Amino acid sequence: MTTIDDWNEYWKENPNSKVLFTGDDGKTIGDFEKFWSQILPYHTQNLSVIDIACGSGALFQTFGDKAFSRKAGLDCSSDALNSLQKNVPDAEGILNETSVLPKETLIEFDLILSQFGIEYLGTESIKDIPGKMKQGAEFIALCHYNGGHIYSRYKREKEGIETLFAIEAFENALQIAELMNNDTIAYEIRARDYLSHLATLDKKWCAGSLHFVNGIQQLFVAYKQYDHSDILAWIKGFKLQLDIIYRRVTTICDVALSESDVQQITSGQYSDSWTASPFTLKNSSLPVAWNLRFKKK
Ligand SMILES: C[S@@+](CC[C@H](N)C(=O)[O-])C[C@H]1O[C@@H](n2cnc3c(N)ncnc32)[C@H](O)[C@@H]1O
Repeated sequence: MTTIDDWNEYWKENPNSKVLFTGDDGKTIGDFEKFWSQILPYHTQNLSVIDIACGSGALFQTFGDKAFSRKAGLDCSSDALNSLQKNVPDAEGILNETSVLPKETLIEFDLILSQFGIEYLGTESIKDIPGKMKQGAEFIALCHYNGGHIYSRYKREKEGIETLFAIEAFENALQIAELMNNDTIAYEIRARDYLSHLATLDKKWCAGSLHFVNGIQQLFVAYKQYDHSDILAWIKGFKLQLDIIYRRVTTICDVALSESDVQQITSGQYSDSWTASPFTLKNSSLPVAWNLRFKKK
């Protein structure tokens, strides 16, 4: 599971990340902007708004100059909130390091929003929101969809990394690299076998695992052009990086809401005022998110 330290690390390294706003081609996905611009009330200048699990403020940035009486972003990562301050200077940052949302904070807001964020706090936390809202307030969220478009992308990424772990790709690469200096013949035989093995699994590689496979191929083939210590450091560094990425993609897959999670969230005392529907991008067949909405009557 991704820890607060992992999130801090992530936001330190990617202070302006809008990764979930971009498609596989790295271009901005306009559908999310359109979704929010259509769903928000036209006049917002008298409304207070809070973005739950706001990260670096991607959501507020999509609203552009839309005015609110008060803007706040809540996140468990102080580094995310530092970025929020820079990216959206008129938003206040609220640090909340638990998965329980503070009622005394939520009750102050007219609009409670979240984009691929609140599901990290767990289904119970989402279910509890209505009881913490003031009369007339509205909750609108886009949440990861189990089996959906983003989920499938991360699941593939996760499986690629799991394959590297299963074949002990890093440990073996280090052992082989150790031979470079003292037994060139053994090195070349083992490196060739190692690379052939990776090639037989080529359907598995994507994103991080694909970068590793391409990188190790280049290093093992052209090893004479590199410092031995740099090759060892590259393999060890990659392993550490993929450990973190693995925790992140696993968490995204774990928090993605299934149909039964959504049923559980929307059942009970407030069931009449919840709506939940799949949200699909223009060019995709799979839903990308759950659109969860609740209005407190
Ligand atoms: C995928 S990012 C989404 C950020 C932002 N909503 C966006 O659209 O770019 C998920 C965010 O959830 C935050 N988060 C994870 N667990 C949390 C928790 N228990 N309480 C508050 N924020 C949390 C992380 O720090 C991270 O900023």
